[in-house]
Amino acid sequence: MPLPGQKEAVFMPMISPSILSADFCCLREQCRTVLDAGAQMLHFDVMDGHFVPNLSFGVPVLQSLHKGLPGAFYDVHLMISHPQQYAAAFAKAGAGLICFHLESDDDPAAALAAIRAAGCKTGLSVKPGTPVQALEPYLPQLDLALVMSVEPGFGGQKFMSQALDKMRWLRQWRQQHGGNFWIEVDGGVDAVTGPACVQAGADILVAGSAVFAAPDPAAAVRALAAL
Ligand code: DX5
Ligand code: ZN
Repeated sequence: MPLPGQKEAVFMPMISPSILSADFCCLREQCRTVLDAGAQMLHFDVMDGHFVPNLSFGVPVLQSLHKGLPGAFYDVHLMISHPQQYAAAFAKAGAGLICFHLESDDDPAAALAAIRAAGCKTGLSVKPGTPVQALEPYLPQLDLALVMSVEPGFGGQKFMSQALDKMRWLRQWRQQHGGNFWIEVDGGVDAVTGPACVQAGADILVAGSAVFAAPDPAAAVRALAAL
């Protein structure tokens, strides 16, 4: 709480642009643009064609990007069936945080331990159909809880407003139990849907098409950060 007489701090969400919607022909330049515009991290969506019906990119791309932009924080979102066995490789390639899905085939506690042992921050996510309360046993040890506001697998989908209640529940849990995790929302977040997410408790807004498909990605990042 601000001290009496102190100006109340204005909350600004952190922005994690999803490079899934970037132009891979000039990935480093696109990433540099959004970081220079104030994005705190880069969202790196990994898909295995099994956990989700799509393929994206993996360790070698992160390794190259990290080499090209070593100062960036890489927010890695694993939409894969077996996150545990890849934690060390993504950490070595430059991941700052590794988030995976509760619905994956691995034991969540063991996968979280592998991520932590590899020196990364930990994140856990639920798909739209999974109650957010399923995350509860893991919340005390998480650095990030990711609420999916679309079915994972593709960029450019419509925001599902049921995700807002999940963010509110996470915020309330954190207030009551003193957890230390960020609340992140991913899917269909833009200047229209973003304000409700911020009001519901989101600390980090992931935005793919709203940033990289915008005519001016830097302006899009600044607009989201000002929500
Ligand atoms: C979807 C991915 C998202 C995706 C978001 O499975 O996890 O990160 O890139 O894209 P937009 O912001 O376009 O919905
Ligand atoms: Zn994502």
